[in-house]
Amino acid sequence: MIVTTRELFKHAYGKYAIGAYNINNLEQTMGLFQGNIDSKAPFIVQLSKGARSYTNKLMLEAMIKTADKIFPESVFAVHLDHGDEATCMDCIASGFYSSVMIDASAEPFEKNIEITKRVVDAAHAKGLVVEAELGKLGGVEEHVKVSESDAKLTDPAQAEEFVKKTGCDSLACAIGTSHGAFKFSGSQGLHFDVLEQIQKRLPNFPLVMHGSSSVPQDEVERINKAGGQLKGAKGVDANQFRRAAQLGVTKINIDTDGRLVWCRVHREAFRDDPANFDLRPPGKVFMKEYAKFIAGKNEKLGSAGQLDAVRALVKK
Ligand code: G3H
Ligand code: 13P
Ligand code: ZN
Repeated sequence: MIVTTRELFKHAYGKYAIGAYNINNLEQTMGLFQGNIDSKAPFIVQLSKGARSYTNKLMLEAMIKTADKIFPESVFAVHLDHGDEATCMDCIASGFYSSVMIDASAEPFEKNIEITKRVVDAAHAKGLVVEAELGKLGGVEEHVKVSESDAKLTDPAQAEEFVKKTGCDSLACAIGTSHGAFKFSGSQGLHFDVLEQIQKRLPNFPLVMHGSSSVPQDEVERINKAGGQLKGAKGVDANQFRRAAQLGVTKINIDTDGRLVWCRVHREAFRDDPANFDLRPPGKVFMKEYAKFIAGKNEKLGSAGQLDAVRALVKK
């Protein structure tokens, strides 16, 4: 069942966070739905601009609609990840998405407000909800590249003003994370002090944490042992998710870790069976491993076991 993130956030706020997972293909879609059903968790399927143009955006929509039929117990939102204004408008017009993210965080404050407000007005008119972003995460996204020195934590006073002026429904804050597999070079971590201040200024308002992959070291080791070259990859400690959730983070974005699962499964499969050229044996292993991975993340997020309660709430 497709719901909006507003409904999911209402149930989760202050208690746990909803996992927001990016998908690009059939195997990820099947593993994602299976893993959420296995762990009885509500979730968010995210589609990036890059995912929408990987094959054809309609293919992704069809896969999600079909997965909804294959897994009728599932409760999830369909969300555009890191949209620009034109992509947000396209998703709003499509009638398929339940929420969009407008990411104008690379623009100056006033321009970010202006663009975000236009998207909010268009989305609200059609019953969709909007995630916006303020502050600059480090790392690489599809249409924005931010170096570590340019990354900028969200200013709590600006966050309050931004939400008031734009009417957005949730806010992605920069609190020390970055996208990709190389998040921290030393002992840096999440800035809970900044998060606390944002929550004080925006009580009961859903916050979003991007760049939340953990980059498990055993996964990196296995990839490197099977021929990969990921040196110095490091991520967010998943044991900090619950503390972030208590401080208002209701959506936690994870993409890179899933790609690592894909990379490990396929590298090991071809190393261990070099004569194989059939895509299905590794594909089957990946779907199983991805489902296991999703269920494990949901335990850390606290969303595992919440599915029945959320379904009862949205059916009221
Ligand atoms: O934050 C970006 C997400 O990980 C999506 O990545 O734009 O390469 O699909 P992508
Ligand atoms: P990771 O690169 O840490 O998985 O972050 C994903 C993300 O923020 C998607 O919007
Ligand atoms: Zn992101």
